[in-house]
Amino acid sequence: MRIYIINGPNINLIGIREKDIYGEKTYESLMMFLMELCFEHNIDAKFFQSNSEGELIDAIQAAYNDADGIIINPAAYTHTSIAILDALKAVALPAIEVHLSNIYEREDFRRTSYPALACIKSFYGEGFDSYKKAILYLKEYLQKNGTPG
Ligand code: DQA
Repeated sequence: MRIYIINGPNINLIGIREKDIYGEKTYESLMMFLMELCFEHNIDAKFFQSNSEGELIDAIQAAYNDADGIIINPAAYTHTSIAILDALKAVALPAIEVHLSNIYEREDFRRTSYPALACIKSFYGEGFDSYKKAILYLKEYLQKNGTPG
């Protein structure tokens, strides 16, 4: 089972940015946490982070024919990017949206999620555990429904 874990703008700055919202732990510690989790569950994960919308779309497109599923935290592009929504629809892989914070209990503009329209499930508001739940959910989904291709 091979998955892409894609993170959007400013996720590389967690541990520095708005600690009251995103916590004290760094992006490097998120990577370690996810690598260990994927290793334990025998998941081959490829990690990608970019601050650019186009590069995130390139990463989603690269998943086509290379991955069985996608976990994505599009960060602020969640609330603006029809292009990321279209890319997720185009590759048509099972995708899960993740957020560290609860986007439904913050500013009104964060309540809109375009990628959610192409995702089988969303996990938010649980910090690193949002990613953990997404990985375990995707694993179970792929085991139940089979891997694409
Ligand atoms: C975020 C929530 C977004 O609204 C915000 O723009 C981010 C991070 C989260 O993980 O909680 O950058 O995606």
